[in-house]
Amino acid sequence: MTAGLQALLDDLARYLVQQQAAGSTFIWREPESSSAAAPAPAAAPTPAPAPSPAAPPPRQTPGTKQERELLFQRECAGFVRDSLALIARTRAHAAEPTGSAQSEMFGSAPAVALPPPPPVYETVAEKTAALEAIAAEARACTRCPLHAGRTNAVPGAGNPGAGLVLIGEAPGQEEDRQGLPFVGRSGQLLTDILRAIGFTRDEVFICNILKCRPPGNRDPERQEVTACEPYLRRQLAVIRPRLVLCLGRVAAHTLLGTSAPLGALRRTIHFYAGVPVMATFHPASLLRNPGQKRDTWDDVRKVRALYDALAAIDA
Ligand code: URA
Repeated sequence: MTAGLQALLDDLARYLVQQQAAGSTFIWREPESSSAAAPAPAAAPTPAPAPSPAAPPPRQTPGTKQERELLFQRECAGFVRDSLALIARTRAHAAEPTGSAQSEMFGSAPAVALPPPPPVYETVAEKTAALEAIAAEARACTRCPLHAGRTNAVPGAGNPGAGLVLIGEAPGQEEDRQGLPFVGRSGQLLTDILRAIGFTRDEVFICNILKCRPPGNRDPERQEVTACEPYLRRQLAVIRPRLVLCLGRVAAHTLLGTSAPLGALRRTIHFYAGVPVMATFHPASLLRNPGQKRDTWDDVRKVRALYDALAAIDA
C-alpha cells in the first residue's frame, strides 16, 4: 500500500470515528474487492458479517496489507463505539465508589478506602503548581526502602493539562540519573510511537507506577507499589486526563488490580480512579520482541481514535 493510500485510510477512519462521536450513524461496508492488485474473484465474495454492537467483529486472517488495514479500521471503529458507551455508563454511575467498573469486570478488585475528593484544578497554572508540589514530595519521599538507592526520584514529566497520560513501570538507570521518565532506549522508542500517532512528548504526561528505581530494574514489589501509588493517584486527580495508556504488564496489573494476561487487557477499555485506561506492550518489551510492534501499532492507533472521539465529545 502506498503512503498516500495509507494516509487516506487513516483520515477516513478518523473522520468516521469523529462522525460517530458527534452522533451520526454509519454502516461500515466491506469493499467488494479489498485488494486493487488482486485479480477479480471468480465467484461473488461472501459478504462480511455486519459488526455486532455487543461483540467485536470475529478475528479473520486478512490476505493483503490492505485487507488487514480495512479489518483493523472496522475493529477500531467498533472498539471506539463500545468504549464510548462504557465510558458514558461509567460516568453516569460516577457517584458510586471509584473502582466499581473495574470490580464489575474482574470481580476481584480490592475495595480501597479513599480520602475525601481532592480539589479540582482548572487552569494549567494551577495544575502545574499542584503537580510540582506532588513531585517535591516524591523527591523527598522515604516511604519505602527504594529511596535509599536512588540518585533522583522520577515523579513524571510532560504537560500538566494533558489529555493523555502514559504510565510505565519504574525508572531505569538513565531515568534515575536524569530524574526524568523514559529517557533511555525504550524512551526513544516511546517518543517514536507517540510521534507516529501525532503526539509530541510535550503534549502528554509520562510517569511510572514507582517513582524510584528498583535495584537491577526488578519488578516492583507490593509494598513499594502500596507506598508509591498515592502519588500516581494524586497526579491523575490533578491532570484529569481523557485517557490513560498503561505501558506493559506491570503497569496494567498494578493499575487495574488484576493478573489477567496483557493480551486480554489490551483488547478492552478499563478504569482507574474513574479515568478510562488502555494497555499495550512496554517499549522495552518491543525492543526485545520486535514481533509485538504490529499489535502495538494497532493499540496506539485505537488510543488515538478513542482520544479524538473523547475530545470531540468534550468540545
Ligand atoms: N521503563 C519504565 O517503565 N519507565 C521508565 O521511565 C523507563 C523505562
